[in-house]
Amino acid sequence: MDRVILDWPNLGFHVRETDINVRCHYQGGEWGPLEFSDNHNLTIPMAATALHYGQSIFEGLKAFETVDGRVAIFRPDENAARMQYGARKLLMEAPPTSLFLEAVSELVRQNRRFVPPAGSGAALYLRPLLFGTSPLLGVRPAKEFTFCMFATPVGPYFRSVLSPIRLRVERESHRAAPLGIGDVKAAGNYAASMRSVGAAKHAGFDNVLYLDARESRYIDETGATNFFGIQSGDQHRYITPRSNSILASITNKSLMTIADDLGYLVEHRPIAVDELSSFDEAGACGTAAVITPIQEIVDSSGTYGYVAPGPVTRKLYDRLTGIQAGVMEDTHGWVHYVD
Ligand code: PLP
Ligand code: COI
Repeated sequence: MDRVILDWPNLGFHVRETDINVRCHYQGGEWGPLEFSDNHNLTIPMAATALHYGQSIFEGLKAFETVDGRVAIFRPDENAARMQYGARKLLMEAPPTSLFLEAVSELVRQNRRFVPPAGSGAALYLRPLLFGTSPLLGVRPAKEFTFCMFATPVGPYFRSVLSPIRLRVERESHRAAPLGIGDVKAAGNYAASMRSVGAAKHAGFDNVLYLDARESRYIDETGATNFFGIQSGDQHRYITPRSNSILASITNKSLMTIADDLGYLVEHRPIAVDELSSFDEAGACGTAAVITPIQEIVDSSGTYGYVAPGPVTRKLYDRLTGIQAGVMEDTHGWVHYVD
């Protein structure tokens, strides 16, 4: 394998074309074969339900080169399950887990030369999409769907590894309604976040912290990550919001397990904004963001500062990335090797 030459430590989070992508069509009540292609475009009907009615969801997962030169994908079965959950909510047909896993593994194999070197802090990011392609005018679910996926080497979503960010509590809009689709990785949720996230970035912040849409009292998540707070003490506490309008982050789920393994208390519950002052550390977590320490959260109620990165955040980061890189034991069976 002749790896491509890229500035691995400074990739940023951008689309870089790789050799091969994959697509698969659901028609006549069944999934067709996986089609691997070097054509980076798709042709779909102008009247596809995805385009005007937003019948479209996506996923994000990463492949890592391990220290012994193998390639590991982190918890792809969880992404398959979450895509199936989203598909049920938006009345779509989702790829079965076996098809999803085959597409992921083969896509990584065929783009092996784009997998960043172990220890570079970069990864091969995989972006699966699922959307309705039937041309329909009435607001009805499609009968045909496309499942496709591209791969692109990326660095961290926010600046560089473990460099702290600043958030603003969003007080002028909400991301998602309590009984809506905030818990689905639906394309429209991200369109809905662009204005507030853009305004916060314009004001010098890295992202926003959304509040619940019913009372504007509880923390939901940022535009691209879940949130956690740490209380240090005789026994550390990992505290993360429970809300039906946020995405069930696979990274956060893993961190709750790791925190428990490390002997911390894990609290998965509603977190009121005024609890922000009770945390010693805070972080944003997700596949793209990994664990990004938060140094400051600015709200109309006050400004909250944190040690960033603090010792607990660092420990969680080391354990998570250690498992992904194959330097720490994968006791929970999270890593899926492609070769
Ligand atoms: N929250 C939102 C809104 C996201 O887009 C993401 C990214 O996928 C996450 C949280 C983190 O989820 P995961 O850890 O599964 O990537
Ligand atoms: C991810 O973390 O994989 C995501 O999909 C977040 C996205 C907004 C970049």
